Amino acid sequence: MLRVESIDLSYGASRCLRSVSVEANPGQITCVLGRNGVGKSSLMRAIVGLERIQGGKILWEGKDVSALAPADRARAGIGYVPQGREIFPFLTVQENLETALAAAPRGSKVPEEVFTLFPILKQFLRRRGGDLSGGQQQQLAIARALTARPRLLILDEPTEGIQPSVIKDIARVIRLLAREKNFAVVLVEQYYEFARELADRIAVMVRGEVALGGPIGELDDESVRRLLTV
Ligand SMILES: Nc1ncnc2c1ncn2[C@@H]1O[C@H](COP(=O)(O)OP(=O)(O)OP(=O)(O)O)[C@@H](O)[C@H]1O
Ligand SMILES: [Mg+2]
Repeated sequence: MLRVESIDLSYGASRCLRSVSVEANPGQITCVLGRNGVGKSSLMRAIVGLERIQGGKILWEGKDVSALAPADRARAGIGYVPQGREIFPFLTVQENLETALAAAPRGSKVPEEVFTLFPILKQFLRRRGGDLSGGQQQQLAIARALTARPRLLILDEPTEGIQPSVIKDIARVIRLLAREKNFAVVLVEQYYEFARELADRIAVMVRGEVALGGPIGELDDESVRRLLTV
């Protein structure tokens, strides 16, 4: 499991995360909610090693990974789908997927399962990433993360700017990964409706802090909504 324990993160003099704790268990979906600019992406970047924390620790499968480089965290099973997708527009779909093999043992291939989850990618293997629609790019970004065979999948606003039919597809895949493949999933969302359908646990952030968190069944809808409108 993932345990983020009281982490602090500042950008220069500006405090971004203040004693933030969240957890994610195999087979479950943890949703991190919060309005624009509350620190959701910064928290994800801290977990994958793209930001250095100043306090607290990040435990993954019982080990403190706080000091590991991003590639070592990826090797330890932490997968990441960044906000805005960050696919390589001039590389083909195949090449985009292969970038995720850089840290894998030599001779590793893109797992066939990725194409079972997203059949459209198989069809578009030779297309450039930049020529895909937004929804297809998001599927590619998820597929790329899965290519490194993670056990924890972090998705930062995968539904942002995506049409409803593709959102449904993405929700189906996220659910399947957690329920059937036993992934621990951390999902960042701005929309409570989408999060509520998928989440086992939620953490609502307000100005760099977790203002409310816990198993979904123990949280009161109205309190969550109130924090998302402040
Ligand atoms: N590299 C950086 N340097 C300085 N400040 C930053 C940096 N990245 C983010 N911030 C600031 O930290 C705060 C949190 O940003 P962050 O991107 O983590 O929020 P967010 O909750 O993901 O927002 P959004 O919903 O818009 O994606 C914001 O005030 C932002 O301006
Ligand atoms: Mg963000």
